[in-house]
Amino acid sequence: MDNSKKTKRKILVTQALPYANAPLHLGHILEAVQTDIWTRFQNFNGNECLFFCADDTHGTPVMLKANEMGIKPEELISDVYKDHKSSYELYGINFANFYSTHSDENRKYSEYIYECAKNNNLISKANIEQYYDEKEEMFLSDRFIKGTCPKCGAEDQNGDNCGVCGASYNVLDVKKPISIISNTVPIKKESEHIFFDLPQKNKMLKDFLKNVDLQESIKNKLNEWLNDDLKKWDISRDAPYFGFEIPGEENKYFYVWVDAPIGYLASISNWAEKNKLNMQDLWSENSKYEIYHFIGKDIAYFHGLFWPALLSAANLKLPSGINVHGFLTINGEKMSKSKGTGILAKEFAEITNPETLRYYFAAKLNNKVEDIDLNFDDYVQRINSDLVGKYLNIASRSASFLKKNNNILSTNIDSNILDNLASKKDEVVSLYESREYSKLVRIIMDLADDVNKYINEQTPWKKEMDEAVDISSTAIKAFYILSLYLHPIIPSITNEAFKFLNIKKVSINNVDEAVTKINDYKPLLNRLEKIIIPEEENMDNVNLINIDQFSAVDLRVAKIIKADDVEGADKLLQLTLDVGDLGTRNVFAGIKSAYKPEDLTDKYIVLVNNLEPRKMKFGISEGMVLASSNDEAIYLVSPDEGAKPGMKVR
Ligand code: MSP
Ligand code: ZN
Repeated sequence: MDNSKKTKRKILVTQALPYANAPLHLGHILEAVQTDIWTRFQNFNGNECLFFCADDTHGTPVMLKANEMGIKPEELISDVYKDHKSSYELYGINFANFYSTHSDENRKYSEYIYECAKNNNLISKANIEQYYDEKEEMFLSDRFIKGTCPKCGAEDQNGDNCGVCGASYNVLDVKKPISIISNTVPIKKESEHIFFDLPQKNKMLKDFLKNVDLQESIKNKLNEWLNDDLKKWDISRDAPYFGFEIPGEENKYFYVWVDAPIGYLASISNWAEKNKLNMQDLWSENSKYEIYHFIGKDIAYFHGLFWPALLSAANLKLPSGINVHGFLTINGEKMSKSKGTGILAKEFAEITNPETLRYYFAAKLNNKVEDIDLNFDDYVQRINSDLVGKYLNIASRSASFLKKNNNILSTNIDSNILDNLASKKDEVVSLYESREYSKLVRIIMDLADDVNKYINEQTPWKKEMDEAVDISSTAIKAFYILSLYLHPIIPSITNEAFKFLNIKKVSINNVDEAVTKINDYKPLLNRLEKIIIPEEENMDNVNLINIDQFSAVDLRVAKIIKADDVEGADKLLQLTLDVGDLGTRNVFAGIKSAYKPEDLTDKYIVLVNNLEPRKMKFGISEGMVLASSNDEAIYLVSPDEGAKPGMKVR
């Protein structure tokens, strides 16, 4: 195909913004990998495709988590930001910009869109009754209520939607409500809230759903909601709340789901500024960019209704497509921390080569809203058989024959098999485009089978050198084409392959490029071993450390000289410790539920003496005291009588 005649598409891509209250788990990585493969493919195919994301920093969970840790929300989100960013990097996720919703750009856009909505008479106020947690002295957002689904009667469902029947509902309709923060029954209390007039956008949203590229099953669900009982959307939350204050109001904040998708705009605008580009050209009513959102099925409601309504209120371009994926299960089970299946992205990257997970996800992903299972045995089997046994095997078995020819390829190659490989290019391109990755992987692996079969039939090991070089040259050329086809899925492995092949400029449209001289082959991937995830409670499986790692922890006997309550902290006590010759230490310890301050004076405990000091809301904590604990109780660890402050513990 003549590439110069193809018009270059301009595409903005986003994935959902992960909440900044926890590390990334493998479900987040599934979404990132699906999106990253698509954006890499677009660029690889000659389009301009930019991938944006950010941390979703606002809302009650972040606020509560920071409180619990005794730090400011700003500090929590800045730690989580670094952790999220480096986790995505491990999996080769190639953002143009990974930003934060707690940013000036986001405040500016949130206020702007709100003002536009106001000017378009889309904003109104009303008193509402809400659940209020008397113990915690705060209004409860929907996600802090659990109860029985008013539609289907399923117990223990979320405050605003049902995981069993998929209904979404008003939290006040939930039966048998419980505050999950304090486990008490909440009371109903009135306060004034601000509303966005979603019903006014009904027609606009119906038109939007007609035009947007989005799975039918989700469109049907959204249309049901539109035809059902579309209500005004409550966009304000009362203090205490971590977020942006609503202009012109007192103690009212934008609900996190207002400024979260606006975070897409903020991330793009922050990047545009740095790259001297104009937002007008990127995301405005008449911009040339297509806009695609990648999201999980749980947040389709927000992206298919609220978000386009907000955009339209400000006359901003609507998404061209919303690509919804299903949920990741692990070994057939829902991900859950307590069952040991809530595996963190960083943990998994330590026990296996993270790029192989990209391949496994690709092998399972399609463009439907189906859930996807990561089965460890299947995963190891798949990587070893496909990537090591089929794809890379072609290079390793052919390179040895070429080495005898100074790594120079012959030009007398078998065009039959190569033409067949090259002829699949359009199909490969179209499967990437439509996100049918599993079908795509199957086709590529069938081609790899063909090449291995070709080598087996040609038996280069039985042939004279010239013929063996011809056969191997054909195989290496085939390996090059397969590497092109796999490149968006496994970018680092294929980049190593391109180095081995001496290919400088890679594009999916260069299937005919000549490979003339290679380098010595070094294995690009080792076979994976069986995966065992260490379970938290199981002592047989704990991660082993060596004696040096243990010695690095400086444990000391210390005497508590003073213990005080900490104002504003539910769980902490402030301890002043005597560590003998080493002086005194100030430590905040989460032991208030188990000890009264007055009972602690003169008690001997064990201190981690060389822990990095940690800045907390209440002061600096200079170490940690050892205690045994589970969900019910806490017991400080004390040395036997006779131990002196400052003595080493080992
Ligand atoms: N912060 C919101 C999104 C705001 S977008 C403007 C949020 N955050 S999240 O961290 O809970 O989820 C982020 C994305 O990960 C969502 O698309 C969600 O569907 C997806 N997943 C969360 N758990 C998942 C699995 N177990 N499997 C696959 N995707 C999952 O929602
Ligand atoms: Zn239900």
